[in-house]
Amino acid sequence: MAYTPKLNSTSGRNTPTFRDIVRDVMKHYKHEKESEAHQIFRNAGGHQPKGLPQTVNIEEETVPGIEHPGSTGVIYCSDRAMANGFNYTSSHEWANLGQGAPEVGPIPGAPERPNTISVPLDSLEYAPTTGVKALREAVANLYNHTYREGKASQYTYENVCIVPGGRSGLSRLAAVIGDVYTSYQIPDYTAYDQVLSAFKRLVPVPTALDPKDKYRLDIEQTKKDIRTQGLAVVLASNPRNPTGQVIKGNELKELVSLSREGTTVILDEFYSWYIYPENNSDYGTSISSAKYVEDVNEDSTVIIDGLTKNWRLPGWRVCWVIGPKNLITALSQSGSFLDGGANHPLQLAAIPLLDPLHVKQEKIALQKHFKAKRDHVLARLKALHLEVDIPPTSTFYIWLNLEKLPAPLNNGLTFFEELLKEQTIVIPGIFFDINPAHRRNLFNSPCHHFVRLSFGPPLKDLDMGLDAMDRVLKKAKKAGMKEFGQGYKTTNEVPDSPVQVV
Ligand SMILES: Cc1ncc(COP(=O)(O)O)c(C=O)c1O
Repeated sequence: MAYTPKLNSTSGRNTPTFRDIVRDVMKHYKHEKESEAHQIFRNAGGHQPKGLPQTVNIEEETVPGIEHPGSTGVIYCSDRAMANGFNYTSSHEWANLGQGAPEVGPIPGAPERPNTISVPLDSLEYAPTTGVKALREAVANLYNHTYREGKASQYTYENVCIVPGGRSGLSRLAAVIGDVYTSYQIPDYTAYDQVLSAFKRLVPVPTALDPKDKYRLDIEQTKKDIRTQGLAVVLASNPRNPTGQVIKGNELKELVSLSREGTTVILDEFYSWYIYPENNSDYGTSISSAKYVEDVNEDSTVIIDGLTKNWRLPGWRVCWVIGPKNLITALSQSGSFLDGGANHPLQLAAIPLLDPLHVKQEKIALQKHFKAKRDHVLARLKALHLEVDIPPTSTFYIWLNLEKLPAPLNNGLTFFEELLKEQTIVIPGIFFDINPAHRRNLFNSPCHHFVRLSFGPPLKDLDMGLDAMDRVLKKAKKAGMKEFGQGYKTTNEVPDSPVQVV
């Protein structure tokens, strides 16, 4: 791209030095075509603007009739890490701050981790596509106990559908939603991008959340959009991945009230326990829209949650969708052709884990442990002059703005590539820009200058990653920018079993 630099000489001479020219070009470096990190991204399957053939390996023929969804954020980041030497055997030498899962080992004060499961003969059979009845009852009971004490309308097992993971819950839902306008916000959880692209009957309507407003969802504006644009569905993660902000109290009440006025409100509440109270007495409090639902069968509020994050059991694939009875029967149908239901023995093993007393103990231990990790990471980032504008009050993610760093380190994709050289994984912000057409210049995305750091992993891994950031920043200070933005390893090999990092 032709670019004529407007130069200010830092050397005090009228004629700019070569250094001035390079600095100026770097400062104005603003199109993805000029950046190696961005070109690697665009050449990975599925990241071309939509309308062009999409394959994972661009040398391959496209299979007739197949529109390849390309690589998701999970796969892209794993592939790039693997191109830089990350694999199962070397993984302990890496800091995976991209990890979208919490540490799964013991933490202080928490009940013992489950380590055996029984497999009764009956559990060798298929489980119903809505899940094992006793587990559905345990989920309904937990929500009634935690959020609905004293309310006339209570959840029963008929309001609960067990699903094999949160993403499966989302796709079961998407498969039964008709041709409607669906409101979503940017940034939000990466998988919504693929769900909104794959299930074409959902017509996506985006709203960009404003950092000036702490990424708050403006409920009044949402109400206006419902009226003027005919939005039928609102989808959001709450607490929100990746910004770590949460809609609570009256605002959440207002949001739920929309579900009594003809709009379906789908809240993905996977981080409902990851709330960090200021007062000790508030430990053990979690947030759910279930508290504000008036009639469990009349209000069209749909909740997705499960064992993945709160119980720190991502490998179990036991999750649930809660909503009006009529929705649950619809999800049973979509489950019967999409996934066939969650693992039967693990559903049985999950039942005692939903006991309210067990849950209380898990929640308190988790909140104390993760709050300490959050504070530790924020303090270390501050010491690195990477202060976080909007610190997370929930989830285990930090949405880090890189804008103040010198170019090209000031964009998420380049920062990600530079950290891979230091055996550290973070997630470039653009993956949270739910932009199903993938057309805009990546530099124009509101998420482009961000990375998401996870404090899900154990503290020692977090420190390894922060040490790596320290090395990158020291190198930049010492040697300048000339070594950055280039020399990235590429590989055409598609790994057999990518490690999930998002
Ligand atoms: C907001 C949100 N919802 C759902 C999920 C996925 O859950 P699962 O792994 O059970 O499919 C994630 C995982 O990162 C998430 O962040």
